[in-house]
Amino acid sequence: MRLVSKRRIGFLIFILVGVFSVCIISRCVVHFQYNEEIKYYKKFFQQKKDGLQEIYNPLEIKQIPGETIDDLYSASLEKELKNNQIIEWSKFAYVNYVTDVDYLCNTLIIFNDLKEQFKTKAKLVLLISRDLLDPDTSANIDQIKLLLDKIQAIDESQVIIKLIDNIVKPKDPTPWNESLTKLLVFNQTEFERVIYLDNDATLRSSLDELFFLPKYIKFAAPLTYWFLSEHDLEKSYHEIKFKEKQPINLGSYTKVLANRIRKGQMIYNHLPSLPHSLYLNSNNIAQDIISSTSSSSPLFYFHGSKKVSKLKFASNLMVIKPSKKTFDEIVEDTLPKIINKKDKYDMDLINEELYNLKKIIYKQFIFFRKVRKLFKPEVLVLPFARYGLLTGSLKNPKHYSMISNDVLGYKNLDENGDEITRSLDDAVTYSKYIHFSDYPIGKPWVYQSVKDFECNVEKEKSRGLELEPQACSVWNSVYESYMQTRKICSV
Ligand SMILES: *[C@@H]1O[C@H](CO)[C@@H](O)[C@H](O)[C@H]1NC(C)=O
Ligand SMILES: *[C@@H]1O[C@H](CO)[C@@H](O)[C@H](O)[C@H]1NC(C)=O
Repeated sequence: MRLVSKRRIGFLIFILVGVFSVCIISRCVVHFQYNEEIKYYKKFFQQKKDGLQEIYNPLEIKQIPGETIDDLYSASLEKELKNNQIIEWSKFAYVNYVTDVDYLCNTLIIFNDLKEQFKTKAKLVLLISRDLLDPDTSANIDQIKLLLDKIQAIDESQVIIKLIDNIVKPKDPTPWNESLTKLLVFNQTEFERVIYLDNDATLRSSLDELFFLPKYIKFAAPLTYWFLSEHDLEKSYHEIKFKEKQPINLGSYTKVLANRIRKGQMIYNHLPSLPHSLYLNSNNIAQDIISSTSSSSPLFYFHGSKKVSKLKFASNLMVIKPSKKTFDEIVEDTLPKIINKKDKYDMDLINEELYNLKKIIYKQFIFFRKVRKLFKPEVLVLPFARYGLLTGSLKNPKHYSMISNDVLGYKNLDENGDEITRSLDDAVTYSKYIHFSDYPIGKPWVYQSVKDFECNVEKEKSRGLELEPQACSVWNSVYESYMQTRKICSV
């Protein structure tokens, strides 16, 4: 008896070891195969890109420089003039959402700026919680109605106010418990493209050019640059220069891109790539792709692909192609995963589920292998100093070099190869959208005047922060101009 069961156990172990080895071997085979393909396509896109049309590199996520966005916009305007290709502005919209009365004034300011100062012809869409207009639940209903009238009066036909039901996280007492409502932006399907803006921010310039990103792009946003260290940046420059064998001088890219736009050639493969070292774990993409496919299997846990990338999409400003398919996926699939999880909000949903940088590479590559020329990329990275600057960075010397170089892994260099740095004044002029973020300082509307929270060099020094006087004056001036514009809300 004993002998039999011992034999059985031996047999079982034999089988187990066998299965395990087959798994490992098949993984190695897949790994090897992926590696060869990746090597092949990497070379293919590096060497052939000038002549390619309609085949997109799936092994990179691309960043689009500000200059190139402007060039695309000018090209569209020119086509309208010369070839009578009318731009249908009614298919474009700026979108804000408001679930809290304190934010309503900001929408008035931003929509008013967009229309009066920047002369946009796109629609201005406000999504506002039904609750705020319900006399039973809303305390300041008269004030809200007055503000809504003012918003509508900016332009009777251009402004669209929609009542919505909040997406609330149950049992979450934090101020962000209604932030998932933002996802309704993906449902604004009557528009071809929308620019979503958080409204706790100041708009410095027109954003219309963002409507003219290449048509296949469904999602574009700046990245959370503030999570990056000096070391991360150095590594990324190194990667581009040595591993990718490309120059890091941004100007050499924008020149080529401008030429291609003029000739009507595809630009995607020529855009600067987001350095892999910033979001993939290994130096080996095949490894990362395989561990994404099998990350649910305990066998593969030890490959250590679980480290979460620091770099994510910021959700303050997003260029989105609304789609029923994406929205249904959000409602049916992604929201249920996140709605009851502690400390998970809109940005987590977007980055962990919808547009996770690592998953994008994986999905792109797997899809590309199947369909080749039918593959089209859906995601682009926007330059963060132009579209995603935080007020806090103006007071943070560690961010100053980043503000001048907002295409990650690349630098603005002059003819001698020296770095061109922007002064803080220039940075603020360059920036089109600055988000109020100065924790622990509150949002500006909780204060009477800038005097109550202003920056001064002595005060900062006593808290251990050495600042140039210019830093304080630039920072203060951003808030002062916001406080000035707030006057249009007084009723
Ligand atoms: C959401 O948070 C606010 C305060 O931040 C609180 O007053 C409200 O009750 C919360 N809502 C829910 C459903 O927990
Ligand atoms: C999404 O949009 C559709 C069509 O406009 C609308 O009928 C539906 O109520 C919207 N869903 C939500 C949750 O707002």
